[in-house]
Amino acid sequence: MARPRVLIDTDPGVDDAIAILLALASPEVEVVGVVAVAGNAPLAQTALNARRIVALARRHDVVVAAGCAESLSDHVVEASVVHGRDGLGDLEWGEPDVPLDPRDGVDFTAEMIHAGPLTIVAIGPLTNLAVLLERHPGIDREVEHLVIMGGASFEGNVTPAAEFNIWADPEAARRVFAAQWRITLMPLDLTHQASLNDDDLAYFASLDTLVGARVAAMLEPYAQFHLAWHGRRDVFMHDAMAVYEVLDDAAILKCGARVSVETGGVHSRGATFIDRRRVHTDSDVRVGVSVDNERFRQLLRARLATYRD
Ligand code: RIB
Ligand code: CA
Repeated sequence: MARPRVLIDTDPGVDDAIAILLALASPEVEVVGVVAVAGNAPLAQTALNARRIVALARRHDVVVAAGCAESLSDHVVEASVVHGRDGLGDLEWGEPDVPLDPRDGVDFTAEMIHAGPLTIVAIGPLTNLAVLLERHPGIDREVEHLVIMGGASFEGNVTPAAEFNIWADPEAARRVFAAQWRITLMPLDLTHQASLNDDDLAYFASLDTLVGARVAAMLEPYAQFHLAWHGRRDVFMHDAMAVYEVLDDAAILKCGARVSVETGGVHSRGATFIDRRRVHTDSDVRVGVSVDNERFRQLLRARLATYRD
């Protein structure tokens, strides 16, 4: 059976970087493109970061394009406390030798959908996908699978109600969840079960490769943020869960649900209401419930160790 073609829509972002490196090192999938969106940093920065990560992986066959700079919702997003001013932990990088494709990232995504069955892994705000729906009505039905990291069943991370990717552009998320694609959602209550610890950071540093060194270096400030905000250095691997789902759909226990998004509200804007009641067990939206973190960590270590430099 042909490997799934995968397009990653992303706002790198330290955890985005790990997710992308995992996907690029995994033979189960063919990554056809990485499309940047504004989120953890402005678009110019997330597009540069996407080029940096693809260049670090030495995958000059993978297209990197830029999507939307502005959310459909009405507020400015700032996440430097989490991912650093440059979005990747503020390390020193040279100019990446992976170019930014001149095609508009949303139009490139449409091209990839029309070229054959495609899985989209969305690990940033959903602005690009909402604009895709606007420009190409009905294209949701042509997408084989949409895996989203976002939302929260119970407690958010940007506000008590809202998770960052949804909070950054709730109107875009509302439109995406109202469309007809097959969605698998990895909310915070799932992704908070997936984390790396200091042993993992030491392991990556010990690989004696540029990828290992960069991964360990990016994760250090991310661990310091986790210590300050959560009281432990263990770093959540939010975005990697969306990639993990595509690599092994038996790895994450899921259930059927109906998902709606709050776009108004003073305290609740960006909240996701994930309705798991029995009436929705046959819903086409599947939501991640549990994952074996030890098994995930071993897979991630093994895959990142395959990078030879
Ligand atoms: O809430 C976690 C999400 O927000 C992840 O995608 C992380 O990269 C940030 O964008
Ligand atoms: Ca992200």
